[in-house]
Amino acid sequence: MRYTILILTVGVANALQFPSWVPFVNSYKQPQATYSIPAEAADAAGNRIAVVGAGAGGSSAAFWIGKARERFGLDVEIDVFEREDYVGGRSITVQPYNDSELEPMELGGSVFVKANKNLWRASDEFGFERFDFEEGSSTMAIWDGTEFLLKMGGKGRFYDDWFDSLKVLWRYGYNAPSKTKSLVNNMITQYLTLYSSSTKPFSNISDITDSFEWGHIAAQTTSEYLDLHAVDRRWTRELVEAATRVNYGQNVDAIHAIEGLVSMAATGASGVKRGNYQLFEEFIRRSRANLFLNTTVLSITRDSQTSLYTIRTLNQSTVVEDTRLYRGVIFAAPFHSSNIKLSLSPEAPTIPPQPYVPLHVTLLSTTAAHIRPEYFGFSAKTDVPGTILTSYEGFRNGGSEPEFNSVSVHGKVRRKDGVAVEKEEFLVKIFSKERVEDEQLTNLFGEVGWVYRKLWEAYPVLKPTSEFPPVKLDRGFYYVNAFEPLISTLETETISSRNAVDLLLSELFDAGICPKSVDVNGTEIFSSSDAQKGDEFVYGWDC
Ligand SMILES: Cc1cc2nc3c(=O)[nH]c(=O)nc-3n(C[C@H](O)[C@H](O)[C@H](O)COP(=O)(O)OP(=O)(O)OC[C@H]3O[C@@H](n4cnc5c(N)ncnc54)[C@H](O)[C@@H]3O)c2cc1C
Ligand SMILES: *[C@@H]1O[C@H](CO)[C@@H](O)[C@H](O)[C@H]1NC(C)=O
Ligand SMILES: *[C@@H]1O[C@H](CO)[C@@H](O)[C@H](O)[C@H]1NC(C)=O
Ligand SMILES: *[C@@H]1O[C@H](CO)[C@@H](O)[C@H](O)[C@H]1NC(C)=O
Ligand SMILES: *[C@@H]1O[C@H](CO)[C@@H](O)[C@H](O)[C@H]1NC(C)=O
Ligand SMILES: *[C@@H]1O[C@H](CO)[C@@H](O)[C@H](O)[C@H]1NC(C)=O
Repeated sequence: MRYTILILTVGVANALQFPSWVPFVNSYKQPQATYSIPAEAADAAGNRIAVVGAGAGGSSAAFWIGKARERFGLDVEIDVFEREDYVGGRSITVQPYNDSELEPMELGGSVFVKANKNLWRASDEFGFERFDFEEGSSTMAIWDGTEFLLKMGGKGRFYDDWFDSLKVLWRYGYNAPSKTKSLVNNMITQYLTLYSSSTKPFSNISDITDSFEWGHIAAQTTSEYLDLHAVDRRWTRELVEAATRVNYGQNVDAIHAIEGLVSMAATGASGVKRGNYQLFEEFIRRSRANLFLNTTVLSITRDSQTSLYTIRTLNQSTVVEDTRLYRGVIFAAPFHSSNIKLSLSPEAPTIPPQPYVPLHVTLLSTTAAHIRPEYFGFSAKTDVPGTILTSYEGFRNGGSEPEFNSVSVHGKVRRKDGVAVEKEEFLVKIFSKERVEDEQLTNLFGEVGWVYRKLWEAYPVLKPTSEFPPVKLDRGFYYVNAFEPLISTLETETISSRNAVDLLLSELFDAGICPKSVDVNGTEIFSSSDAQKGDEFVYGWDC
């Protein structure tokens, strides 16, 4: 990276204030207008945008800026900074036995669904094969630390079965699943408007909760909300809690009800073969951004005269610091764990502290197809499902606490063991609050082969709230992870980044991801009608 602090002359500073500086080379569905950029201004980083973080949020931010460049010829340069040496952030895979011949396992964000239109569309358009996450998965049970509450056999598809399964109907009746399904569907209907052509950028997260009438839902715990809707209490505390615990490591009496409903909305869970991170790599490749891996952003300082941002970075390989000047910044990492020092304008809002859930992920291989029956106090011959989800209800009622949030079996590996023997092993994923020690693994599975551990700051502590972090921090400076305390998923980070990029392009360049049009009365509308384009329309992709 070159050393590129430039001293702005008064002339350049003035040039930057002219609207005609806006760097369109050509425009799309707009009056043809060609502007030239003063050479000094271009040099002075006037058209450079920095993206902090190369996870789902940052990589897609670069992609959206790239889309605007394609459509408008918007002459911007994008620098993406990432402190790790890979693209994907909380979406990354691990090779069992560090053997590249074996199928990789997801260590973080694993699944998305068809309603997640950006990732669905990206995997289609980029030519990545998806697989059905629950296909071929084992049978499932809910464990409360003392006993199994529910065992679902047969297909063992939690998200497809929770409504239909006879066992579910037997235990909880018809009303609880059907009422929950309708609440989930209402939530999804609102959510899907975020992809329509009439979707508007939101300047804060409350804009969304207000217009979707989600305010009261996000302000209640999942159990309060479902109890108020007269949903069977046991269903909520057993089955819904199994879903909130495996998805967010949080219980129904703690997690807010929007994320509770999101946890129940995973029907048709899919992933990209050999790793979702490939989508994020492709976002960056297609954006033609400059990607700086192994590069930690240390500080971002706004110059009050020019409104430009100086970003100080550290190259971790060389331990050399560098600075560069930017016109705009997309901040796409959880702020508090980024350790970035921000010096913005005095009126810039502060980002309230946001704790994240520490989550231990343990990946392992074992010859056992499931947890040993003896672990649960059963005789050796008892049939134990491969996937064990958990409820906290036993513990709340004075029982013992489950040692893990979830245990799931993810396919098999065949390994050449020594010279001749080929051994078949099962791959297992454990989510837990505490580290699972070797002796606990032995207690759970008997013989264990390969083990890999990771402690994540996984997702926000999703307590009921009516206040969210600011989306806009300063002029030309936007915060993608403001969305996470409402919904924390791979997909919603790509929606939040799209919004941030739209706001930034509009503010700095009078542009956007999609062309703006004007109706007969001169009112700005976002693009042509999508009515004729039907369900397939996705804002940002189809405009
Ligand atoms: C175990 C687990 C399972 C999950 N399962 C799912 C799932 O099945 N489906 C789903 O949709 N979501 C899931 N999630 C949530 C999902 O992974 C996250 O919501 C999403 O990945 C967040 O993306 P992001 O880009 O906002 O943040 P991140 O992925 O955290 O990206 C931020 C990036 O910024 C970088 N960074 C931070 N500080 C700096 C700095 N100072 N300088 C430079 N770079 C910096 C980080 O290294 C990181 O790469 C899961 C998460 C975990 C941990
Ligand atoms: C994993 O394998 C790669 C190359 O195959 C090697 O460079 C790396 O050091 C290995 N890592 C571990 C932890 O063994
Ligand atoms: C959110 O933005 C809207 C305008 O889009 C504004 O009216 C409202 O006051 C903002 N709310 C908060 C909490 O900042
Ligand atoms: C870090 O410095 C090394 C040595 O100069 C260089 O090769 C590498 O490209 C730098 N990394 C980044 C991300 O700039
Ligand atoms: C990243 O930095 C580490 C040292 O911190 C170094 O071992 C590694 O090779 C670097 N990776 C890249 C891609 O530069
Ligand atoms: C334009 O304005 C008129 C008068 O206010 C109104 O009746 C009409 O619906 C408007 N058209 C559109 C497309 O908004």
